[in-house]
Amino acid sequence: PRRQPARRRTAVLATVPVAVAALLGAGGPTAPGTTGAPGAGDPYFPLSGNGGYDVRHYDLTLRYDTTSRRLDATAVLTARAGRRLTRFDLDLKGLKVTAVTVDRTPATFRRDGQELVVTPRHALRAGQDFRVTVAYHGTPKPVTDPDGAVDGWIPSDDGAFVASEPQGAMTWFPANSHPKDKASYDFTVTVPQGRTAVANGVLLGQRTAHGRTTFHWRETQPMAAYLATATIGRFRIERYTTRDGIQVYNAVDAREARAAAPVLKKLPAVLDWESKLFGPYPYRAAGSIVDHAPNVGFALETQTRPVYDSAPDLGTLVHENAHQWFGDSVSLTAWKDIWLNEGFATYAEWLYTEQHGGRSAQQTFDALYARPASDDLWAYPPGDPGSGARIFGTPVYARGAMALHELRRAVGDRDFFRILRAWTAGHHGGHGTTGEFVRLAEQKSGKPLKRLLHTWLYTAGKPDSA
Ligand code: ARG
Ligand code: ZN
Repeated sequence: PRRQPARRRTAVLATVPVAVAALLGAGGPTAPGTTGAPGAGDPYFPLSGNGGYDVRHYDLTLRYDTTSRRLDATAVLTARAGRRLTRFDLDLKGLKVTAVTVDRTPATFRRDGQELVVTPRHALRAGQDFRVTVAYHGTPKPVTDPDGAVDGWIPSDDGAFVASEPQGAMTWFPANSHPKDKASYDFTVTVPQGRTAVANGVLLGQRTAHGRTTFHWRETQPMAAYLATATIGRFRIERYTTRDGIQVYNAVDAREARAAAPVLKKLPAVLDWESKLFGPYPYRAAGSIVDHAPNVGFALETQTRPVYDSAPDLGTLVHENAHQWFGDSVSLTAWKDIWLNEGFATYAEWLYTEQHGGRSAQQTFDALYARPASDDLWAYPPGDPGSGARIFGTPVYARGAMALHELRRAVGDRDFFRILRAWTAGHHGGHGTTGEFVRLAEQKSGKPLKRLLHTWLYTAGKPDSA
């Protein structure tokens, strides 16, 4: 039997430096002074992201040698200063930086843990657009997350599995690594001939010369850094356009091809079904990267094209593609709201089962509700799980989906699906918070829902069910 992706695993470790979090919480993007903050003000990941500016576009040029595992790269970030800046940070972990320029003028820089601290020759004015170029190289290593999983640039036997939720973007490019700051991306990735580099969005072109192939990918829609990928391997490629005009690009490791084929065949039907429930598919491109990376243990909803560490089952395909609406198009402003991603994607799986001849969402809910009060499911509430170590735990996925089911029961199917579609339409390409979702649900249904959702999202222990 196939190993389940780790998104179904329960996180157990709890080693978040709470004192550090409290300390840095005060130094968020609104901190006074003219130096950019080292974090985006998220207590779950205090050093992720930075304050003082907003990235508009990342232009990443990467050359990866799959034998030596060395990366040679240049990142060009186009950004806008939110206030006067004499200094600002980027997130980058490991790797050697050889040069930094700001608007073509050499800048001084130093490394401080995961912070790349840049001092431009001339201070940036509030509202100024500027361009940062970072030249760097080295052997990327993934980060170990508080839940014990690794993420970021994860070497595989024929390339790299690149999946960066929640904090791994900094292992392969200098980033403002928090979902608050979304940007468009260009990827120019050069790999040994015979390997394929698959990133987000649309493949603009590829050319082979002197034993190397360069792939140029572009994602024009706003994307959080953790959703970027440049996964490399020996892949079989399949391309087609759906009836809705979505360009599909599937890359499949030959060792997973037989198991993946019947599931990937369903992708157009799954996207079509999800579009009917959640609103129009948010992107022009879609697809799958099915790698063979047994050391990874999870799949990720990389924007436009989820990446799987092995052939996915149908539920996982439904889940990762549901994230294109919930998480990718409508993004988090804080990691504590993670149930807006995982609860929704899990509920999409229940709905898919219900509408394709399987058990009803109510039956799925009942089976979970029957678990004793001592079960992991009730260990903590999903609306603010408490730390980065808990964001991918069972309460977030399963109890988060249960909260949505309770909402559906309270407002009825018609209003429930109107709420979901209003949510994806109103926050398309942007952000959403739990508070905004609750208000929208009340507004669309005309019912008071704060108590119910508060119970399911924020109250410790097993809630009473109506
Ligand atoms: N968002 C992914 C999913 O639900 C799970 C990512 C797991 N990452 C981790 N560091 N444990 O499909
Ligand atoms: Zn998920």
